[in-house]
Amino acid sequence: MPTIRRVAVLGCGLMGSGIAEVAARAGYETHVREVSDDLANKGLASIRKSLDRAVEKGKLGAEDRDATLARIHTTTALEALADADIVVEAVTEDLGIKNEMFRTLDGVCGEHTIFASNTSSLTIADMAAATSRPERFVGLHFFNPVPVMKLVEVVRTIVTDEEVFRTAFEFARSLGKEPVVAKDTSGFIVNRLLVPYMLDAIRGLEQGLASIEDIDRGMTLGTGYPMGPFTLSDFVGIDTLYRISEIMFEEFREQRFAPPPLLKRMVTMGYIGRKARRGFYDYTGDKPVPMKLV
Ligand code: CAA
Repeated sequence: MPTIRRVAVLGCGLMGSGIAEVAARAGYETHVREVSDDLANKGLASIRKSLDRAVEKGKLGAEDRDATLARIHTTTALEALADADIVVEAVTEDLGIKNEMFRTLDGVCGEHTIFASNTSSLTIADMAAATSRPERFVGLHFFNPVPVMKLVEVVRTIVTDEEVFRTAFEFARSLGKEPVVAKDTSGFIVNRLLVPYMLDAIRGLEQGLASIEDIDRGMTLGTGYPMGPFTLSDFVGIDTLYRISEIMFEEFREQRFAPPPLLKRMVTMGYIGRKARRGFYDYTGDKPVPMKLV
């Protein structure tokens, strides 16, 4: 099986920074590409914070933290990723942006390089078909927060080469994750089930089923979920959830994936969750306070 030594990550936001962190922690030389130095530095700062937290909790030695950070290299140039054995894309959920990057990398990277996308709702085939190496393309779908969540969905398209798939699967395992195999349909396994659940909670709220707090409390106390659907939506990002549901609705044309009007209104108003300090909850005070949305 081909050996992976050098990892490239596209995007150093919430997911990209987490993927870069786990790759570097696992010992890979990791090159992260962002569109500006400012965004690259922000991503690096969040990796540093996460590693510091692991040191404080006694899960990582200070020397290992420093060695991990030394393995992470940031760049704004896609050309700097030419030597990568695997490229993991984690940029915004926009097919045009993703494919423009993959097309450039297709001409820059070696023939052996595996391309992977962390997309949460687009199909891998839609990206693979834009390159000259569709058989060397897989999905590697991580979960937020990446350093904590054990799962990676490894996705094969109808043309993915078997050895490429196995290499990607073992790569996920080498990051300390538990990979599962998923077919290339929008949302794969987890979002196929999770997204309609979160959207249904919003519809319940719109219909006066119960309050934000009580729906969240119902699902945490009644089913043992670590977060209720509204806390989770704010955590994932209301804008991200909206984009995922639009893409999934377009794929399946099923009502259960359609974004409820309230979700769209919240995006319009900039209530996009924790990162904006407002979503289903207001995070500007000491503890989250439910917003008045209906
Ligand atoms: N980075 C690194 N470590 C983190 C972290 C982060 N961002 N956030 C939390 N942690 C660690 C903490 O250090 C802590 O570690 P220890 O157990 O060693 O002390 C552990 O995670 C638990 O954290 P806390 O005690 O602070 O908080 P918690 O018990 O409330 O757990 C949580 C936080 C892990 C996020 C938990 O609430 C949870 O599992 N929530 C559900 C998350 C989820 O469903 N994610 C998937 C979202 S869907 C998705 O990502 C896919 C998509 O395509 C949209």
